[in-house]
Amino acid sequence: MTIPLSIAWTDGQLVILDQQKLPHEIDYLTLETIEDVYDAILTLKVRGAPAIGIAAAYGLALAAQRHDAETVEAFLHDVRKDALYLGESRPTAVNLMWALDRLLEAVQKAGSVENGKALLIAEAVRIHQEDEASCRQIGEYALSLLEGHKRVMTICNAGSIATAKYGTALAPFHLGSERGRKFEVFACETRPVFQGARLTVWELQQSGVDVTLITDSMAAHTIGAKDIEAIIIGADRIAANGDTANKIGTLNLAILAAAYGIPFYVAAPASTFDITIDSGAKIPIEERKAEEITHIGSQPVAPLGTKVFNPAFDVTPSRFITAIITEKGIIKPDYYQNIPGVLNSYAEKGEK
Ligand code: MRU
Repeated sequence: MTIPLSIAWTDGQLVILDQQKLPHEIDYLTLETIEDVYDAILTLKVRGAPAIGIAAAYGLALAAQRHDAETVEAFLHDVRKDALYLGESRPTAVNLMWALDRLLEAVQKAGSVENGKALLIAEAVRIHQEDEASCRQIGEYALSLLEGHKRVMTICNAGSIATAKYGTALAPFHLGSERGRKFEVFACETRPVFQGARLTVWELQQSGVDVTLITDSMAAHTIGAKDIEAIIIGADRIAANGDTANKIGTLNLAILAAAYGIPFYVAAPASTFDITIDSGAKIPIEERKAEEITHIGSQPVAPLGTKVFNPAFDVTPSRFITAIITEKGIIKPDYYQNIPGVLNSYAEKGEK
C-alpha cells in the first residue's frame, strides 16, 4: 500500500503528477518554465492549496535560475515580477501568495545574483519539507479527534496529492491505515470536476483505506442511512474569525452536520490562515469556465450556450465548524480569540 505523491524536485527539475489525467492515466510532467507552472496550476494539473503553494515556490525558483540580471537589484525586480505573475494563477488558496511571499522574503538576503538563485531553491525545498511534516502532525491530531469514530464523510481531495504528503483531511485515514485503524470513508464526487471521484477515491484505494463514492446530492441521505459520525474537510483560506473557504459543496456538508448533530472538522496547515481578513466575506472566490458544468469531460450535458454560474469554492461560517485541526494544535471556538493563540504559541516555542 502506498501514499501517492504529486510533486518532486530532483536534480533541479520540477516534476508533477498530472492530476487532470487521474485516475485512469498516471502521467508525470516536467515543468520547465514559469508559464508551464502557471498553466499547471490554472488547469488543475497541480491543485489543492498546499500543493499549489509548493509548485508556485518551485516555479519562482526555477524561473529565477534563467534570469541574467547583473545586479542584485535587477534580479530582485525580475523575481518580484515573476511572483506577481504566478500569484494570479488562482485567487482563493492563500497558500499560493504565502509561499511566494516566503521566497521573496528569503531572497532579500541575497549577497549576489547566484546567491539569490540558491536562496530561492533552498526556501522552496524548505516549504515542501515543512508541509509534509505539518500534514503528518495534522493527521495525528485528527486521529485523536476522530477517536471512536469510524464512518467519516469528506469532499474534494484534501489528500496527499493536494499537499507534500499525507494531506490534511485525508491524513488521519492514511495514518490510520498504517496503524491498522479501520475507517470507512464516504467521498462526495465533488462536481463539477470530480476531485472526489477521480482523486480521493483513487488516493485512498492506493493507501488501502475503505472508501465509498457518493454523488454530492446523496450526502444528506447518506449521513442518515450510513450513520456517518463526522465530516472532515480541507481548506483554501481561513479568515481571522475561522470562516473557511473550501471546495464548492463544503457549506452544504457543514449545514448537514449541524442538522444531524455530528462534528464538522476543518483540517489545514498554518499556511492556509489569512488573519489579514476578519471574515470569510473578504475571501475572493474563483469562478471557472462554464464548460466545467455544461460538459462532463468533452461530453455536453446541457443545451449549448446555457447560462452558468460556476464558483469553485464556498465559505463555511465558523459557527458551523466544530474544530480546526492544524499542525500547531486543535483550535476550538471562539476562533477569533483562539486562532492567534494556537498559531503563535508554536512560534514562541521556537518551532517555526
Ligand atoms: O480546486 P481545487 O481542487 O484546488 O480545490 C481543492 C480544495 O478545495 C481542497 O479541499 C483544499 O485546497 C485543501 S487541499 C489540502
